[in-house]
Amino acid sequence: MLEDHVGDVVRKGRLHAGVAVEAAAAAAGLPVDEYEAFEANGKATRPCQFGPLAALLGLNPAKLERIAAGWTPAPPDLGRWRELRVVTTTAGMSVNAYLVWDEVTRDAAVFDTGFDAAPLIQLIEENGLLLRYLFLTHGHADHVAGLATLRARYPKARLRSSAKSAPPDQRNRPNDFLMLGSLRITNRDTPGHAEDGVTYLVGTWPEDAPHVAFVGDAIFAGSMGGAAGNAALAKEKIVQQILSLPPATLICPGHGPLTTVAEEKANNPFF
Ligand SMILES: [Fe+2]
Repeated sequence: MLEDHVGDVVRKGRLHAGVAVEAAAAAAGLPVDEYEAFEANGKATRPCQFGPLAALLGLNPAKLERIAAGWTPAPPDLGRWRELRVVTTTAGMSVNAYLVWDEVTRDAAVFDTGFDAAPLIQLIEENGLLLRYLFLTHGHADHVAGLATLRARYPKARLRSSAKSAPPDQRNRPNDFLMLGSLRITNRDTPGHAEDGVTYLVGTWPEDAPHVAFVGDAIFAGSMGGAAGNAALAKEKIVQQILSLPPATLICPGHGPLTTVAEEKANNPFF
């Protein structure tokens, strides 16, 4: 299931564009109360005019209609990525954390913690892994709730984030190039949804598999993280830093299903 239904997409688009509910309802051809219900649950009791609404909100009309029609990304072929796990934890909402490791050396890295570190710890122990790094995509509570538990359990794992308040040795640098066994990890700033938003790119050596991008809440399958007030910056960074990656690049978002650069370029109504 997508993180955002069509009503969520439209509401985010409207807040990003600074458009009032009344104006959006008029463009959609719906009474205001029906339009509000449409934003809330993604369903309208009468046909919504997606073309004029999308034009008003700066969304792609064909892609928006596809979201309304129930598009979801094809489950990506993980291929070479046998040592990648998605851990989804739920507390009212669901959030994804990820674990990656090198098959030979067992060196591992975690990307965000989710609400609860227990499933990550279980995977690390079951697979006999050495947790080397704890990467944070941004500091929002749902993504870092398990951090204290993980740090207490693995005190030698190095913490990395792009938080300005982080001690210098825990802060990402633009040209960081970290090795995890044979895996190579770089980062690129993707602020907008969060000031400290960063995307981590993991590649294999030799380069026999598509890269994996841990994007936090910058972009979701068919949507993007809320960025009211910073929408232009958020979209610019997504285009420059994520959608410019090779089409087969696997996108691992903080919420919702895995997707690829190709899927998002073809189907994400924000782009
Ligand atoms: Fe977030």
